[in-house]
Amino acid sequence: KMSGKITKEEMEEMREIFGKIDLDNDEYICDYELHELLKEAGHQLPGYMVREIIQKLDRNKDNKISFEEFLIVQELRGSEIAKTFRKVINRKEGILAIGGTSELSSEGTQHSFSEEERYAFVNWINTALEKDPDCQHVLPMDPNTDSLFTSVGDGIVLCKMINLSVPDTIDERTINKKKLTPFTIQENLNLALNSASAIGCHVVNIGALDLKEGKPHLVLGLLWQIIKIGLFADIELSRNEALAALLRDGETLEDLMKLSPEELLLRWANFHLENAGWQKINNFSSDIKVVSLVDTDKLSNDSRAYFHLLNQISPKGTDENQPRIDINMAGFSEKDDMKRAEAMLQQADRLGCRQFVTPADVVSGNPKLNLAFVANLFNKYPALTKPENEDIDWGLLEGETREERTFRNWMNSLGVNPTVNHLYGDLQDAMVILQLYEKIKVPVDWNNKVNKPPYPKLGTNMKKLENCNYAVELGKTAKFSLVGIGGQDLNDGNATLTLALVWQLMRRYTLNVLEELGDGEKVNDDIIVKWVNKTLAEAGKSTKISSFKDKEISSSLAVLELIDAIQPGSINYELVKTGSLSEDDKLENAKYAISMARKIGARVYALPEDLVEVKPKMVMTVFACLMGRGMKRA
Ligand SMILES: *[C@@H]1O[C@H](CO)[C@@H](O)[C@H](O)[C@H]1NC(C)=O
Ligand SMILES: *[C@@H]1O[C@H](CO)[C@@H](O)[C@H](O)[C@H]1NC(C)=O
Ligand SMILES: *[C@@H]1O[C@H](CO)[C@@H](O)[C@H](O)[C@H]1NC(C)=O
Ligand SMILES: *[C@@H]1O[C@H](CO)[C@@H](O)[C@H](O)[C@H]1NC(C)=O
Repeated sequence: KMSGKITKEEMEEMREIFGKIDLDNDEYICDYELHELLKEAGHQLPGYMVREIIQKLDRNKDNKISFEEFLIVQELRGSEIAKTFRKVINRKEGILAIGGTSELSSEGTQHSFSEEERYAFVNWINTALEKDPDCQHVLPMDPNTDSLFTSVGDGIVLCKMINLSVPDTIDERTINKKKLTPFTIQENLNLALNSASAIGCHVVNIGALDLKEGKPHLVLGLLWQIIKIGLFADIELSRNEALAALLRDGETLEDLMKLSPEELLLRWANFHLENAGWQKINNFSSDIKVVSLVDTDKLSNDSRAYFHLLNQISPKGTDENQPRIDINMAGFSEKDDMKRAEAMLQQADRLGCRQFVTPADVVSGNPKLNLAFVANLFNKYPALTKPENEDIDWGLLEGETREERTFRNWMNSLGVNPTVNHLYGDLQDAMVILQLYEKIKVPVDWNNKVNKPPYPKLGTNMKKLENCNYAVELGKTAKFSLVGIGGQDLNDGNATLTLALVWQLMRRYTLNVLEELGDGEKVNDDIIVKWVNKTLAEAGKSTKISSFKDKEISSSLAVLELIDAIQPGSINYELVKTGSLSEDDKLENAKYAISMARKIGARVYALPEDLVEVKPKMVMTVFACLMGRGMKRA
């Protein structure tokens, strides 16, 4: 077919797609709308890439796309943009549009969501929280209805799921459980959203009201992030040394440590498929490095690879805690795709792993749900043995520090792309750092100064280094202290120097929030300390701080009293330990303080241990966030 000629059916299809993207029905697609669409379809892109797509299509340079301009997509066959749209469009089936009579359409917005995801997540949550006494008022939810969206409305299920994904994130004592009122519900939702953010979920465009109203696309988007973080938590070498069994010839542990959880899962599946004598799966959806999804089509399409995988990982009776389970391979030669998938899932069920996918999801290769299915298989039955007597330098194996994890979660919660799994390795091309500069309002010249991936095969590192040099240059315009930091250090992944830059980015981000609240008035450590002292004194509290290094902070009493000063009556003093405190007492207070800060609306990333150990940087962010919350009150 000639390019440029569009059939009537295609025209209608394009109309329909355009309508779906144009959320506010103003007959134009703007970058926000495109961003939402890509996100829903699992193809989230950083802001600059979305803007690039707009620029490519925007002929009259009004920064938005009319329907006529949108038709250009058809002519761009084969290009990255066309491929992205094609994927999104192909996934149109299976995405439900809600409109018409729903409440949302009355606000002039129309969003779509996946019924498959709703079904999968409801079943997962039902199982995960089955025995939780605090969730019995909503569980079990019916996966075939929209009950999920009303059930999450009081925040309890969300808090519980977050705490399951990253244990101890939420102090149980801070969840409002009884006699809920609109106010206490709002508090639960604040707690859920701010805690989700602290574990690295991107929640920037979600508010408590959205969750209370149960907006399906937002609820599913948040739940997927929470569930995924939990599923991926142990797919990491420092948490599971047996993963070293996946080393290939000539590789070091360091190489393996650089892989993302998705990449490790793919390796893992291939390891077992290879042992089964079955063909390997050999690629990621690598055209745009959005999420390097396991090639779910190939893994699942005909269910046969899954049969082999189950057969390889099923317990062989060698471990006395796990009775032998033999996978019945009879369904392997079933001719009908759906029936074969069902037969495979019945075997998964015998392993207690019939989760996330239906036969239809297996046959269609739904990427998210198949990824979750495989991750769950890995978590339950890794079937790997830690290699012995080999030249493996286990000394290299260091888990990430708390500080590194906090920085990483902070970045991810701002929606940087790609997701940062390894602080140093994933910043070596500076793309994430450059996105962070945008977040602190330092303009980035994406068109002229940045080499964007994919990088050429030859000279890749030079391109990355140039980006790093630019990142350091921008730091100078931002008046950062960069003594001794060069682009090369970022490119090398030098921990000390990378941390020094990242901390300044996070600090500036935190201060910017305060300055915006204070109509642009400059803020520094001293001003925050003064504000803390003043607020405590005015509320008649006895605590004070002299600096963010003040050892007294270790008890968290200053934080707790400040919270009570900002929202009088919020702290239950019966739960607060006072007097001469043991380390455990301090930790209890700190957990309570951090969860309470989040509950009254402060987006705190720091961890309880940071307060107990009085880590000045993280302590500063806690007080700064509380100051922000306090200023909002004023
Ligand atoms: C959170 O997780 C910890 C550790 O798993 C547990 O002790 C605590 O009760 C949980 N709290 C909630 C709110 O589920
Ligand atoms: C994945 O690999 C297959 C063959 O192994 C190839 O046909 C396909 O084009 C690859 N896809 C991508 C996205 O690289
Ligand atoms: C990182 O940079 C610092 C300061 O230049 C240097 O002392 C240190 O040795 C470097 N670390 C590595 C691992 O190269
Ligand atoms: C805060 O209070 C402490 C203790 O009274 C005092 O030493 C310090 O100077 C005060 N800091 C500021 C910035 O007001």
